[in-house]
Amino acid sequence: MYDSEVAEIWDTIYRGRGRDYAAEAQGVARLIHERHPDAGSLLDVACGTGEHLRHFDDLFDHVEGLELSGDMIAAGRGRSPWLTMHQADMRSFDLDRRFDAITCLFSSIGHARTPAELDATLACFAAHLHPGGVVIVEPWWFPETFADGYVTGDVIHTDGRVIGRVSHSSREGAASRVSAHFTVADAEAGLRHFTEELIISLFTREQYEAAFRRAGGTVEYLDGGPSGRGLFVGVWR
Ligand SMILES: C[S@@+](CC[C@H](N)C(=O)[O-])C[C@H]1O[C@@H](n2cnc3c(N)ncnc32)[C@H](O)[C@@H]1O
Repeated sequence: MYDSEVAEIWDTIYRGRGRDYAAEAQGVARLIHERHPDAGSLLDVACGTGEHLRHFDDLFDHVEGLELSGDMIAAGRGRSPWLTMHQADMRSFDLDRRFDAITCLFSSIGHARTPAELDATLACFAAHLHPGGVVIVEPWWFPETFADGYVTGDVIHTDGRVIGRVSHSSREGAASRVSAHFTVADAEAGLRHFTEELIISLFTREQYEAAFRRAGGTVEYLDGGPSGRGLFVGVWR
């Protein structure tokens, strides 16, 4: 998952779908600074190609990213070579340093496969925070807000390329399966087609909140957020 074919077109697709990484980063930074006015360092976990990180870099003194997919990191480094992005697993990382804030955005947390893995992930966040540190997690849908059978699609036109993405989402027990088909029409390379299958956990709001508390944090849930799925905000006092 998130291999080179997807990594190479990730930013084009999501910008084409209307995501505004700069505005998202500013909104998240505001929530952090409201709770920790002096926060100067930030770790973005499951940072993908580093698009939020590029903007966090303007808003904090020191930022780093962490990401499992080497292909996503490589795509991001091509655009933003100055960013520090560690290849590591959010469920078990040890960077041997601490931050004032940790973010995990765009529902990447749903790649924890079980409540135990969600606990392990929050415990890793806690172990990398200074006192007073803030954690912001953008969840995936909750079981009751997930739309079984949801279909969507976009066609994005860029210089010399047209990229199509259609997807179908379905419930599989306590998780969702998101199947996406991509077609890329490139003026020089011609046509190619590939697919991606993601399994994303449907944790309940209570499971997220319990994971924050078990890891030693407070937790509040804010409606809305960058994608309409809300945001969990925790503070480690
Ligand atoms: C939905 S994408 C979000 C990427 C980025 N945060 C963004 O907003 O564009 C989910 C990301 O989580 C990463 N990921 C999945 N499992 C992970 C894990 N166990 N540890 C760290 N990153 C992981 C994927 O490789 C992918 O880049």
